[in-house]
Amino acid sequence: MADRLTVHDGETPVYDIVFRRDFGGFGEELEKLGVGRKKICIVSDSTVASYYMELLQAAIGSPSVTSFVFPAGEENKNLDVVRRLYEHLILQQFDRNDLLIALGGGVVGDLTGFAAATYLRGIDFIQVPTTLLSQVDSSIGGKTGVDFDSYKNMVGAFYMPRLVYINLATLHTLTERQYLEGMGEIIKHGLIKDRRYLYWLKDHMEQIRRRDTDICERMVQRSCEIKKDVVERDPKEQGERGLLNYGHTLGHAVEKETGFSLLHGECVALGCVASAYISLRRGDISRDTFLEIEELIRSAGLPVRISGPDKAQVLAATKHDKKMEAGVIKFILLKQAGEAYIDRTVTMDEMGEALDYICAGDLQTL
Ligand code: GLY
Repeated sequence: MADRLTVHDGETPVYDIVFRRDFGGFGEELEKLGVGRKKICIVSDSTVASYYMELLQAAIGSPSVTSFVFPAGEENKNLDVVRRLYEHLILQQFDRNDLLIALGGGVVGDLTGFAAATYLRGIDFIQVPTTLLSQVDSSIGGKTGVDFDSYKNMVGAFYMPRLVYINLATLHTLTERQYLEGMGEIIKHGLIKDRRYLYWLKDHMEQIRRRDTDICERMVQRSCEIKKDVVERDPKEQGERGLLNYGHTLGHAVEKETGFSLLHGECVALGCVASAYISLRRGDISRDTFLEIEELIRSAGLPVRISGPDKAQVLAATKHDKKMEAGVIKFILLKQAGEAYIDRTVTMDEMGEALDYICAGDLQTL
């Protein structure tokens, strides 16, 4: 596969997703974009900055680069931090021709993208995603935003980056748990769009688990390709893009009701199992297919069972789902492994049964 993909808006190329194994090519990419004399602010969190800030600054090689670093953690994905970033940009006299670079995972990418979308009504930004989850999901497609109180991504904008630069070497500094949460979104890509990719993931799980670079590269490229194709066809989520929310309605609700003690990708994995359970109960997928899906998720080191959340509260939380339309939940179900559809008829009872399953499910009773 080539070292880049281009995301289009209709026929017009909008930005490239570049796959590299270091930051060595970053300066050249900036030149191609004609960044020239722009002021640049690299936005990062405290953890990622300690690994990669100097390396990225060196790769840019310009003295007019500033940085804005905020404490790591989802709890900082809020308007307060955005306000502090605006303040920094105003003090450094950033104008509409200048550039932000988001160096980090989903929190950094979403927050920086939102600041870029709104500062002076929009300045350019580049995504440099450093987690598996952000490389395959949140850095692509222009969803930006922050949380508001306990409501995730409640405030935001669709705003496209000028470039997504993926340095696959950054996967090696992730903790096991941070790395594996990305597999929740990756398995989701296979479930909604590509059955053969699911088999490939199954066959290469051992290399994936030990972060074999060649295999990770192929996996990240394939997932980015799936996501790119979807967001090109439906950039503003008026239809098909909704499929990317597979596993997210119940996943987000579990994430909220467990006080964000589980990572997003872990909750997506649980949501994928619960959603597949509904498809099983509806007779859309077979017991064998369901068990294969569950086993794939388990083999990726992700949770398929959870103890603790109050079922009524989780169900209540699904009502705040952003995918609601006129009070109806747009739930994503499987026609088969590798093909998904949007369904507006999933009932609270069905979701309740699926939750019972992931809380205490016994394979024998299936
Ligand atoms: N993460 C889902 C989307 O970008 O639409």
